[in-house]
Amino acid sequence: MGGGTSITNSLFFSSLLLLLSLFQLLHSQNGVVYAQEKIASSEEEALGIFQQRETLEIIIGGGGSPSPAPAPSPPEYTPCPPPPKPPSRLEKARKVLLNFTNYIVDPKGFTNNWCSQTFNTCDFNGIRCATYPISNEPAVAGLDLNQAGIYGRNNKPLSLSGILDRIPELTFFHVNSNNFSSSVPKEIVSYGFFYELDLSNNKLCGQFPMETLQNNNLVFLDLRFNQLTGPIPSKLFDIHLDVIFINNNRFNQYLPENFGNTIARYLTFANNQLCGPIPRSIGKAANTLTEVLFLGNNFDGCLPYEIGNLKKAVVFDVSKNHLTGPIPYSFGCLRQIQFLNLANNKFYGAVPENVCKLPGLIKNGNLTLSNNYFTAVGPECWKLIRSKVLDLTNNCVPGLPKQRSHKECWEFLHSVKPCPNEKYLLSYSPCAGHWNKESEDTEEVAAAPPVTYNALKPHRLRL
Ligand SMILES: *[C@@H]1O[C@H](CO)[C@@H](O)[C@H](O)[C@H]1NC(C)=O
Ligand SMILES: *[C@@H]1O[C@H](CO)[C@@H](O)[C@H](O)[C@H]1NC(C)=O
Ligand SMILES: *[C@@H]1O[C@H](CO)[C@@H](O)[C@H](O)[C@H]1NC(C)=O
Repeated sequence: MGGGTSITNSLFFSSLLLLLSLFQLLHSQNGVVYAQEKIASSEEEALGIFQQRETLEIIIGGGGSPSPAPAPSPPEYTPCPPPPKPPSRLEKARKVLLNFTNYIVDPKGFTNNWCSQTFNTCDFNGIRCATYPISNEPAVAGLDLNQAGIYGRNNKPLSLSGILDRIPELTFFHVNSNNFSSSVPKEIVSYGFFYELDLSNNKLCGQFPMETLQNNNLVFLDLRFNQLTGPIPSKLFDIHLDVIFINNNRFNQYLPENFGNTIARYLTFANNQLCGPIPRSIGKAANTLTEVLFLGNNFDGCLPYEIGNLKKAVVFDVSKNHLTGPIPYSFGCLRQIQFLNLANNKFYGAVPENVCKLPGLIKNGNLTLSNNYFTAVGPECWKLIRSKVLDLTNNCVPGLPKQRSHKECWEFLHSVKPCPNEKYLLSYSPCAGHWNKESEDTEEVAAAPPVTYNALKPHRLRL
């Protein structure tokens, strides 16, 4: 071991000193200086320090300094440590969530435990973890900040970029009742398991966020109570959404012709500025469409008879529009209907008796036709008036209390233009001779109670 050792030592020392000065530059820690004082005392110690050097090199990401010749027969062989592991999905998401807290004011302290003291990211309030299927590792699978009232710090707008665009493992993102105002980040298009997006009751403005329609996994889209404007894109009806809540925005223009392609069960388009007729294609949604809220828009024209095809419909509400014409005879085929609201329009004619015989209406249903120009009711409908299911307040029915004045009725009925296909509307029945049979009656499953009316309040809706 004689001279060879000293050469090795001096080589080693010079490189160690280089390294130490570099390290001191970075840290100036006492422990390192202490190690330097001990260096000369023995070879064994020097070897001990050699091992320490390796550690330092790793700490500062070394390898740039001149390498020493290997020490001869080191007492213990230290294998080259594996390269540092890339951050896990959970660690990456944690960084995003912690970073997010720097940009928000959180008046209810919803994110108070989003901090370094909370060791497990999955314990962060509102975070749901699950195993990410592709890599079988834990990941942030969902985020629920509903009704947190979070807004941007220093009067800056609160952006969805910075959080929604950086957690690709998300399956749901629920931020009802906060102050998000930016556009929807395009990154969500590539999220492989993203199925629920609830941005309701925020401050989104501009046109319909098309990014939300480019992820084919999405089944639940809730944009209620924002300030979105412009047309409703036709793409909305060609993807596999089960729930479309877009009420209480400022959407305007016609509903696209492909409207009926939707496979959604729940549609709330209420309280926008939509106009034009209700597309006839609506009948194509017969096998799925269950609740339809069109109230509070500017729809006009006559109701298409195809609505009568909606054999699953439980709720159909077109109140507060500018619709006219008779109630199509086909409405007698709305087998499951419980809530039928046509109030505050310009409907006229007789209320079809087959509608007043619908089982879902007779049994605690609700048929609201107030503030129209209906002129006649038959015996079945009289029964519903008496049982308070049917409200015909402020119409033109002779002999019924609380009706419009003769003058008002006369003026309306002498100026009204009939629907283009009015004869057909008054006679066509898509279900004639089918479901009136007893056998089908017994097969009926009790309809679930309506859910979408809750969407008219700006809070989280749980289906
Ligand atoms: C932290 O968030 C801000 C604001 O969303 C974003 O611009 C920034 O890139 C984020 N930083 C990191 C390291 O993610
Ligand atoms: C919420 O966002 C709106 C629109 O971006 C903004 O005008 C308002 O000041 C924000 N509210 C708070 C409390 O920051
Ligand atoms: C029927 O619905 C209307 C409109 O939503 C409501 O005002 C009325 O109270 C309901 N009637 C009954 C009997 O529930």
